[in-house]
Amino acid sequence: MMKSIFFGVVAIAVAIMSLSQDTAHAQEQTGTVEGDYKWDNIEDPCVTALHNQINEEFNAAITYLTMGAYFRQEKINLLGFSDFFFKAAAEEREHGIKLMEYALMRGKGPVDKNNFNLDYSFKVPADTDGEAGLRMALQKEEKVTKSIRGVIKVCEGGSNDYHLADYLTGEYLEEQHKGQRELAEKIATLHKMKKESPHLGEYLFDRTHI
Ligand SMILES: [Fe+2]
Repeated sequence: MMKSIFFGVVAIAVAIMSLSQDTAHAQEQTGTVEGDYKWDNIEDPCVTALHNQINEEFNAAITYLTMGAYFRQEKINLLGFSDFFFKAAAEEREHGIKLMEYALMRGKGPVDKNNFNLDYSFKVPADTDGEAGLRMALQKEEKVTKSIRGVIKVCEGGSNDYHLADYLTGEYLEEQHKGQRELAEKIATLHKMKKESPHLGEYLFDRTHI
């Protein structure tokens, strides 16, 4: 089972790596249009911040894939937690793709091919239980929210790019705040359910609340 989970994670990692190669290749196809003209003025610091955020979103996807696989191991067998983290990974991947589409819509490459480095170093510490997993996810989301705020600051500040700032504020921060609230609620409920009997409380939460 451990082997199949390991190979499953490796297969997903390879799929994401091939995505990064495809996007880098796609970026190379973006040449100068004949008759060279300028139609957008999105400034470099804002583009760099956007590309960094795309990296962050895919890195968050890898973190949640790892967590989803961890909770699915037969000795842990918390399928509710596993599904929750696999779903979170799919959402992060979707966020990354939406930002790539945004960059392309503004006439920029989908990624910065020189700095698109995915981070596979995350490991779930041994004996992590469901509550610790949710707390790790909340920490990760706080970090992502901070990072989005950083992009907004760069883009609405010196770069005066109100459109991207508005997109991130209206769509991304909205989802971040709702997601963080949901995680905080789950942690509180699980914590209470574990009071009398930690394992039974976690099992019931896994089957009914997540
Ligand atoms: Fe995200």
